[in-house]
Amino acid sequence: METAHAAVTTRLSDYQPPAYLVDSVNLDVDIRDGVTTVTSELALRRNPEAAVSDTMSFNGEGLVIRSLALDGKVLEEGEYRYENGELLLSGLPEQATLISVVDIEPEKNTALEGLYMSNGMYCTQCEAQGFRHITFFPDRPDVLSRFCTTVRADKKRYPLLLSNGNPVEQGEEGERHWVTWEDPFPKPCYLFALVAGNLACLEDSFVTASGREVALRLYAEHRDLDKLDHAMASLKHAMRWDEQTYGREYDLDIYMIVAVSHFNMGAMENKGLNIFNTSCVLAHPATTTDAGFQRVESVVAHEYFHNWSGNRVTCRDWFQLSLKEGFTVFRDQMFSADMNSAAVQRVNDVDFLVNHQFPEDQGPMAHPVRPAEYQKIDNFYTLTIYEKGAEIVRMQYHLLGAESFRKATDLYFDRFDGQAVTCDDFVDCMEEVSGMDMGQFRRWYSQAGTPILSVTSEQSGDTYSLTFRQQTPPTPGQSDKQPLVIPVRLALLDKAGEPVALDDTGLRETVLILREQEQTFQFPVGQTVTPSLLRGFSAPVVLEFDYRADQLATLLAHDTDGYCRWSAAQRLYFAALDRLVTGHGKAEDEALKLAPVLEQVIERAGEDAAQAALLLTLPTEVALGDRHTPLDPSAIHAAHQQLKRALGRALQAQWLSLSENLLATELQMDGVAMGRRQLRNLALDYLAAGEHKEAARIAVELFELPLCMTEELGALRVLVHHRLPGAELALKQFAEKWKEEALVMDQWFSVQASVPGETTVESVAALLEHPAFDWKVPNRVRSVLGALAGNPSAFNTDEGYALFTRALATVDALNPQIAARIGNAAARLHKLESGRQRAFRTLLQGVNDKASPNLSEVLSRILGSR
Ligand code: PHE
Ligand code: ZN
Repeated sequence: METAHAAVTTRLSDYQPPAYLVDSVNLDVDIRDGVTTVTSELALRRNPEAAVSDTMSFNGEGLVIRSLALDGKVLEEGEYRYENGELLLSGLPEQATLISVVDIEPEKNTALEGLYMSNGMYCTQCEAQGFRHITFFPDRPDVLSRFCTTVRADKKRYPLLLSNGNPVEQGEEGERHWVTWEDPFPKPCYLFALVAGNLACLEDSFVTASGREVALRLYAEHRDLDKLDHAMASLKHAMRWDEQTYGREYDLDIYMIVAVSHFNMGAMENKGLNIFNTSCVLAHPATTTDAGFQRVESVVAHEYFHNWSGNRVTCRDWFQLSLKEGFTVFRDQMFSADMNSAAVQRVNDVDFLVNHQFPEDQGPMAHPVRPAEYQKIDNFYTLTIYEKGAEIVRMQYHLLGAESFRKATDLYFDRFDGQAVTCDDFVDCMEEVSGMDMGQFRRWYSQAGTPILSVTSEQSGDTYSLTFRQQTPPTPGQSDKQPLVIPVRLALLDKAGEPVALDDTGLRETVLILREQEQTFQFPVGQTVTPSLLRGFSAPVVLEFDYRADQLATLLAHDTDGYCRWSAAQRLYFAALDRLVTGHGKAEDEALKLAPVLEQVIERAGEDAAQAALLLTLPTEVALGDRHTPLDPSAIHAAHQQLKRALGRALQAQWLSLSENLLATELQMDGVAMGRRQLRNLALDYLAAGEHKEAARIAVELFELPLCMTEELGALRVLVHHRLPGAELALKQFAEKWKEEALVMDQWFSVQASVPGETTVESVAALLEHPAFDWKVPNRVRSVLGALAGNPSAFNTDEGYALFTRALATVDALNPQIAARIGNAAARLHKLESGRQRAFRTLLQGVNDKASPNLSEVLSRILGSR
């Protein structure tokens, strides 16, 4: 066991290549109840790229050594050192073979890294540093080896034995059997995987562009076999898309995905053997919401795309994590845009970035996309690495244009195939192909924080000018900020909302590339215009412009850019909400002002219901709270409720007709049908917020005869969140109906934990005592504690803090990675008004005193910020 405060910092500037490489690994994993014995044979070779040394360090956590042998000679206890997770061997020749035999206890592994058990099956999670819990190895991504793995287990209970690559041999020994797998592609050990279980399989095949047939096998528990079709379809779409868009084919003969119920993250791209959180692979209309379907599609694609961006070309060290994650998120976003509505996809991605990554970048956990240091790498699988990283790749895509970008990625994949490289290597390819100087652009990787771009306009005679000032606020450990390259796509709209000519060639949209702290641009435009700025969200910045309400209405009504429309709506809502928070407005007046604009959106909802739903959705209480310091969550909550209620009333006829008229009579799962369901759920929510007498009836009817989970859950949410008659009964019926479906029950838990208002803390306390609550299942823990964290009026109470910190300590004792993630919910501590801050700080300090290194890294940063 690791003890508290064992804080060790790893720095990018300390990077050294490994002294020895491991050309091949022969693993034998002998699984028996209680103890698994792992025998590994490593072919070591001195690294020609490193300073000559005869000492090599291997990682190993919690391994019980049975024997160690070097070149056939057993090592006695004095001949090696194993302490603090490190095995040191000295006096090594140029080449050597190390054989180790160790025992591990997967049954006791609740941290879910390394080899562990989930619902009776054995599975692994090795990224980032799980492999060291399985055997001794240089557990770092720049050591790439050929793996050959034999798995042995009881035949009856574990008929299925999987690992990476292709099965090459198998056999039986009495009650037991074994299978040997060979992976021809050298890989870092974080991509190793193994599964032993009794699972059902959905099998299909895919013929690659060059005509090779690939077997596709999706595995899940037998009861879930009917929930794999969507993942299979998504996988095939992703395979085809990567061939067409990036010229990348799959490279093995088998591609496998295994669904597991206990998983810390979404999914894992292990070579040829992806392991997925059930929530990211299982989908059925009866049990999965439309949002769930879309998530499955994008995560299946994401992990598949990693086969090139991550596996064939991997990261030199974990500071380069965004090299694979940012790029792969960009790839999966573009894929989803092609599969669905591109405009809606972009707004959803931006919404996620702005509402989750921006706060991270503005809080105590802020870090660059390529961090300079970390204590626990697990804590750096963040929105900054993933989502902001994707935006940085997207900017490069737009700077180069689709064609050059493709040439640059071709160069990247060809040049670095089979290697472990850096973010700079990626940008070098962009630079080489385009001939552009990307020097200043690289600051996006090293500089933390979200730039604020303040824009002012001036009309003088026949010239319209825009002045841009960029500034990035200081972040922890990085006070001086430098100007970034900021591409700003823009148009200028006339009164009718039409883009005007920006020069004498008649250009109606342009991209300005900002490089300096302040820059002014002039346009020969004589009439009054509304600037449509940052179109497509062309750079991840906070854009400040003093829009008048009528300009925002113009953008919302006429802009052809989906992001600018959405952003205009957000600005209108925020302005109204801000006035309510500060006591400068009345909800009814604000609703009356908004109503005509929103009516137009509703009238046009037939064009794209999903888009309309996005435009009609209020910012969250969390987002509103982030605009007001010190943060008084009760005032935020009150303002939010008031505006929603007033909008519910002002537009009640519209909400009523949307609630009733969008009802479908038969189930469809296409984008149009999903958009209509999203809009109807929203309309019903507004109808209930406005206390319309029909709301409960409609919700109950929908709840009782739903076509799919989106309807059933949408109705349940409205009943519960608005405390309508029938809510209690519906919760009971729902739990009874779905008690065997873990993923549905997760929704049942989170619906209740997300009811706005202080009294929710009591129900959360009860949920944690519910027989179906399980501290060992990350999905279940997240469904309650994650929902509570996103529910500021409940979270920010004395009872909320007490419950949250107690729960945090409980989770930490079982699963430090999950505890650290949930601990991030405390990141707004320094913004709270002083009374709440003092109370919460004391409780957090108490947890931190006994926290795991993972949780402690997060809490110490939060507690250290004022
Ligand atoms: N690499 C995984 C992905 O595709 C995420 C992950 C990280 C999963 C660490 C498990 C552990 O994004
Ligand atoms: Zn990934």
